[in-house]
Amino acid sequence: MCGIVGKISLNPVNNLIIDGLKKLEYRGYDSVGMAIINSNNKLKTLKSAGKIKDFLIKYNSNKIEGNIGIGHTRWATHGIPSDLNAHPILDYNEKIAVVHNGIIENYLDIKNSLIEEGYLFQTDTDTECISNLISFYTRNGNSIMNSIKLTLDKIIGHAAVLVIDEESPDKIFGFKKGFAGSLLIGKKNKEISIASDFDTLKTNSDEYIVLEDYEYFYASKDKIEIFKQNKPRTKTWMKIKGDTEIVSKENYKYFMEKEIHEQSAVFLRNLQGRVDFNEKSIDFTDDFSKLKLEKIERIHLIGMGSSYYACMLGSYWLEKISKIPTQFSTSSEFRYRSPVIENNTLIIPVSQSGETADTLSASNLVKELNISQIAITNSINSELERITNNTIMMRANTEIAVASTKTFMATIEILFMLSIYFAKLKNVNIEKNIIFEELKIIPSYIDNILGNVSEISKLAKKYSINDNFLFLGRGQNLPIAMEGALKLKELSYIHAEGYPAGEMKHGPIALIDENMPVFNIVTEGQYFNKMISNIREIGSRNGKIIVLTNCPDKLDPSWYTDIISFDRTNDLLSPFLSTVCVQLFSMYTAISRKLDIDQPRNLAKSVTVE
Ligand code: AGP
Repeated sequence: MCGIVGKISLNPVNNLIIDGLKKLEYRGYDSVGMAIINSNNKLKTLKSAGKIKDFLIKYNSNKIEGNIGIGHTRWATHGIPSDLNAHPILDYNEKIAVVHNGIIENYLDIKNSLIEEGYLFQTDTDTECISNLISFYTRNGNSIMNSIKLTLDKIIGHAAVLVIDEESPDKIFGFKKGFAGSLLIGKKNKEISIASDFDTLKTNSDEYIVLEDYEYFYASKDKIEIFKQNKPRTKTWMKIKGDTEIVSKENYKYFMEKEIHEQSAVFLRNLQGRVDFNEKSIDFTDDFSKLKLEKIERIHLIGMGSSYYACMLGSYWLEKISKIPTQFSTSSEFRYRSPVIENNTLIIPVSQSGETADTLSASNLVKELNISQIAITNSINSELERITNNTIMMRANTEIAVASTKTFMATIEILFMLSIYFAKLKNVNIEKNIIFEELKIIPSYIDNILGNVSEISKLAKKYSINDNFLFLGRGQNLPIAMEGALKLKELSYIHAEGYPAGEMKHGPIALIDENMPVFNIVTEGQYFNKMISNIREIGSRNGKIIVLTNCPDKLDPSWYTDIISFDRTNDLLSPFLSTVCVQLFSMYTAISRKLDIDQPRNLAKSVTVE
């Protein structure tokens, strides 16, 4: 989703801004722009709809140069992706430029009142009310800093904002309100970098600070001052440690393909230091040593999209393995339904990006209620980590493809391990020998699937002409059916629904005919016979039956159309393997349809608006 970059340097900043924007590309966006104050202290802006490469082609012979500037990748909310609506957005005098992540909920009120004051609006964006509001306040005698503060007070909604102003040509201004993602300020020698993403910031900074809710600031090459409610804030600069990860596609054609193939390594990495196979025990002391969990009586998992389906699966495991009553909700519903959270409840917010607006707001609500929470995230230094203070890291390294794969795998693995951890805490007996033996073997079973993808790719090609799909499962296979349907619609734009197999005859069965392929996850264990009955009902109505199974020898080939099989494990652990199969099926379907695998249309990696 939208990304922000700001730069102050002794050298020209335009290429530095482009480099920063390129690092933000993975978040998903539809237009690009930058504004620079040039050596004559004039504000110059370039922007265009499309990708950074389109922007660079368009402005190949029209460069702007200066030592101070801001840049933006926009994911359209208010107004179509167009040159005009791309950020930076200028005020009506064209002296002030603004880049903004988030949504201003009262923008129409502000716009209408400014129109009455004689202001003109050129774009469809909510952001234009910020640039014009700042302009309005300065025109009425306020300093630029005070105007920024008054604007911050006036707007309702979520905003991470940078501003440059021709009248203050040596400074970048900015503010943060609510949860529209991070705003981080870094420095190295005399160079200031500002970014909405830690990975973007860290390549050019030695140390950094984080802007918090309601804080506003200015930065020049020699000084940075931060305020909240007119009072200066003192911040401790944090060192940026560690190597910068170099992310490439290696020998793969797509990032997603590479990330799917990394999953056994990610799985192993998440076991390290947490699982003791000799003792058959799991320990998260390094992840959340500060929390006392013995008294926990209930768990509530919250997340969005794939993270939500991971929560659903986590709830099945937590109840089944550790016997702790567990709920799961989308963060967006949880936060607004005035949730009743009983004493001794643990909330687990899940977000690979750590920046999903709904999950941040929900987690912040939990924080305000003083309820324990442990986040699961893949993003070091993310806003979610800061809110919860207790984090289990996914150890998946950077995931570039917009659709989650290895981060989903890491999340479900952590939730599985947590279930075993809580079982011990609650003195619940589990089949330790089987579970730990099988946990050890999962990475090689994942590699077995990845070593032989041709069957799945052939099937994906065969079914890629379809317009609709149903995915069915029961028990721990249901969340994978839901995730499979999500992956298929995200990547291939095929309409797909995930359903509990038992629910099928209560409505969706009306859709079944010879044109409806149904993808069924059938594993050996508790649900096997029930699934077979449901599948036979599909066959009786001529639906096309694809079976994803770990027990092909138990199935009668006369009643299914196609089959994908994977290694047999204890039923509880089969989601680790069926996940890889549904990911591959979706990716190869999208490849057959010649679609953009890493950046599907309309999607964003980091969803910073609610
Ligand atoms: C996954 O493939 C999706 N792109 C999307 O559903 C994603 O899982 C969701 O937006 C939540 O993201 P998060 O994990 O970063 O919070």
